[in-house]
Amino acid sequence: MNNIVLIGFMGCGKTSIGAGLAQRLGFNFCDTDQVIEKDYKRTISNIFAVEGEEYFRKLETATITDFIGKLADTVLSVGGGLPIQSGNAGLLRQLGHVVYLKTSRETIKYRLSGDTARPLLSGGDTDEKIDTLFKLRAPVYEGAAHITVTTDGRMPEDIIDEIIMRIGVKP
Ligand code: S3P
Repeated sequence: MNNIVLIGFMGCGKTSIGAGLAQRLGFNFCDTDQVIEKDYKRTISNIFAVEGEEYFRKLETATITDFIGKLADTVLSVGGGLPIQSGNAGLLRQLGHVVYLKTSRETIKYRLSGDTARPLLSGGDTDEKIDTLFKLRAPVYEGAAHITVTTDGRMPEDIIDEIIMRIGVKP
């Protein structure tokens, strides 16, 4: 599988880097949140509000399970919580090269301050929520990824160059 799977915390730039990377490689670009919203004709916020997080996690797992054996020449960006669910990291590694976009907690906090689109951060102290999730998730991302690419203070093109070079795909 020559697909590239981008994982990382909310706000690390998976969608924008993913779209740019796909364009450079002439690949398709796909994002699990967008696929779920399209397939179920609802927003992620609505799914969380009505059915809850557990139900959303099942949709995420079903979405990537369905991709196995079907996805080719694709850059896939996945929601920040998807690799955390047991078994999903293995599925992602079956789909392609898994790249962790590693962004510092400070940058994430800066980017997500005032965010209203992400149900996991709504209500209460956003910084505290980010701290808790970050501690839990960062090691899982590291373990799930074939390669880790740092993003702080870098231009998207520079990050894309590094991914292409380290994976060895031909644009
Ligand atoms: C989530 C991240 C979101 C989205 C949902 C839950 C998470 O995607 O899937 O709000 O658990 O980290 P992004 O990582 O693209 O923001």
